Amino acid sequence: MRSLLRVGLVVSLLLVMVPFALAADGLALTPPMGWNSWNKFACNVSEKLIQGAADALVASGMKDAGYQYVVIDDCWQVKRDAAGRIVADPERFPSGIKALAKSIHDKGLKFGIYSDAGTMTCAKRPGSKGHEAQDAKTYAEWGVDYLKYDWCNTDGQDTRDAYAKMGQALRASGRPIVFSICEWGNTKPWIWAQGIGQLWRATGDIQDCWDCSRNWGGMGVVHIIDLMADLYPYSGPGHWNDPDMLEVGNGGLTLVENRAHFSFWALFAAPLMAGNDVQAMKPEIRDILMNREAIAVDQDSLGMQGRKVSDSSARQVWVKPLADGSRAVILFNRGSEEAPIAVAWEDIGLYPKTKARVRDLWKKADVGAFSGRFEAKVEPHGVVMVRITPQF
Ligand code: GLA
Repeated sequence: MRSLLRVGLVVSLLLVMVPFALAADGLALTPPMGWNSWNKFACNVSEKLIQGAADALVASGMKDAGYQYVVIDDCWQVKRDAAGRIVADPERFPSGIKALAKSIHDKGLKFGIYSDAGTMTCAKRPGSKGHEAQDAKTYAEWGVDYLKYDWCNTDGQDTRDAYAKMGQALRASGRPIVFSICEWGNTKPWIWAQGIGQLWRATGDIQDCWDCSRNWGGMGVVHIIDLMADLYPYSGPGHWNDPDMLEVGNGGLTLVENRAHFSFWALFAAPLMAGNDVQAMKPEIRDILMNREAIAVDQDSLGMQGRKVSDSSARQVWVKPLADGSRAVILFNRGSEEAPIAVAWEDIGLYPKTKARVRDLWKKADVGAFSGRFEAKVEPHGVVMVRITPQF
């Protein structure tokens, strides 16, 4: 009996430890959440803007809902000094980055910054090539908690080698720094980046539109959804596919499309980096970004990326299994007319006779108990997102 108990104990310990061993550094065990300056402000960054965004995250309740990393994207840096140390724009960041990081920390938030694996960033600021260890040390001294590392101006460089070099430098810095790999999915980072960084961009740059595409590689929300569809096996605690930062609230999407965008990022277990002006956010946008039941789907401890289980004439069903045995399901209408869409229990791994509770995550209401299937009318470009909990 005793030895049986002992075996039981060892097995349970293993079950608890294995996911942590896989995410050895313990960073980003759930998808990182926060705010990034790029989508709305591009190069127009300053310490005033970053402070304002951080204050708004706190005041709006977004911090309490889980948004914790405040990340300055490109254009904070202007040159290197005589010792090769990176220098922040003295006009836009007069107090310096270390002081800025401290004040972000004082608000109970974490602080992130941006660089590039090449000679210059995408906005032609100094890149980190040849300065990896020095930059990682500087970031650690400044109190940086998150580095987004881009891929412009990298002629002749190997992606895996370049990202591994900075990944090692960050680890050697002695400070836990989440490493966000940004080579746009060009060399399939989902195959090589686990263990190097905690998240990797899987696609080109998101644009503030539903289905546009730019000749330089930028793309709207639906194209990103399609590119993410087959990547579900590669995501998990400490290693996330990143479909890019959110465009929710930036003006190019209808409310229905904004909700669909956010729902899919949650179903994908995507990093949720708000990309809007959080200081001037309409209540209906804040309600989307702060839908705690959708956020709970994103942050679910199982860390599985959702996948598509049925697709017919622009009507799709997607599912994400959750740690408590329930399923998050998206009924997605890509067409231009309202349409009824149904999810069949067998498509989401449930026995047809099973009775399951269905909760609508946007209405924030229980819809009832159903067996076999659940059907709802879905607006064009919209979703009905539900959580289906089997009752045994
Ligand atoms: C690339 C990245 C964007 C942003 C810009 C900054 O395009 O993919 O997310 O960081 O560079 O220049």
